[in-house]
Amino acid sequence: MNPSEPLTGGNSNQVFKQGQTVLRQTGAWSPFVHALLRHLTAHGFTESPVLLEATPTHERLTFIEGEVGNDPLKLYMQTDGVVIEAAQLLRRFHDLTANFVIPPDAQFMLPAQSPHEVICHNDFAPYNLVFQGEHIVGMIDFDAAAPGSRLWDIAYAVYRFAPLVTDAHCLAMGWPQIPNRQARLNLFCDAYGLENRAPLIETVTQRIEALVKYMRDTTSNLDHIPIYLADLDYIRATFLSQS
Ligand SMILES: Nc1ncnc2c1ncn2[C@@H]1O[C@H](COP(=O)(O)OP(=O)(O)O)[C@@H](O)[C@H]1O
Ligand SMILES: [Mg+2]
Repeated sequence: MNPSEPLTGGNSNQVFKQGQTVLRQTGAWSPFVHALLRHLTAHGFTESPVLLEATPTHERLTFIEGEVGNDPLKLYMQTDGVVIEAAQLLRRFHDLTANFVIPPDAQFMLPAQSPHEVICHNDFAPYNLVFQGEHIVGMIDFDAAAPGSRLWDIAYAVYRFAPLVTDAHCLAMGWPQIPNRQARLNLFCDAYGLENRAPLIETVTQRIEALVKYMRDTTSNLDHIPIYLADLDYIRATFLSQS
């Protein structure tokens, strides 16, 4: 039998590594997530884990070898090249999910957002990506996935990748100096091929507000809420007051 090794870094789940597999707890949303993972694998998307087994309480996934982008971020994870790779990966994921048929009676962890253009990962950030040789090779943690717009998912991604956070939060994430957030935001949108950027910043603020509401409603990670609220103030003061 393989020894079970707890995997840390994530915030919500008990996750264990067993051999080259990962054992995770399931929830009401898991039948939907499993259908999504099968769809991705069937369409040749190699960055998501393969679903190996699902029981009423647990799921077993393939373990993706590499380094996860947890804080403090390694310097190579802060490069423009990684912003471009991340945006292109999110674009491919969205394009592949545009025709995904949602199983009847599907439940989602987070509310579906209209318009339903694609499946949003809803937690697309360095801490849910796996790197090998300084390149992104894996995308994990699909629990929060739900139907929504491309913009809704891009909003959270640019919040994390630009990152659209206070200077103090930037330093806490492992940035040795404050990056040019506007330039990295533009780079992400260019690499994704986002056409209409006008509503993006407003959507970022709505996305963060929805996250704070979810944390309050579920009393989860309550200690993180002040950080999100400070980031919201920063985004409004820096990006919304100019228009
Ligand atoms: N399929 C996988 N391949 C490699 N590592 C994984 C995989 N799934 C989870 N992990 C590791 O376990 C940690 C927590 O898992 P994750 O699925 O992100 O759950 P959560 O963030 O909800 O706790 C991740 O940060 C990562 O280090
Ligand atoms: Mg995670």
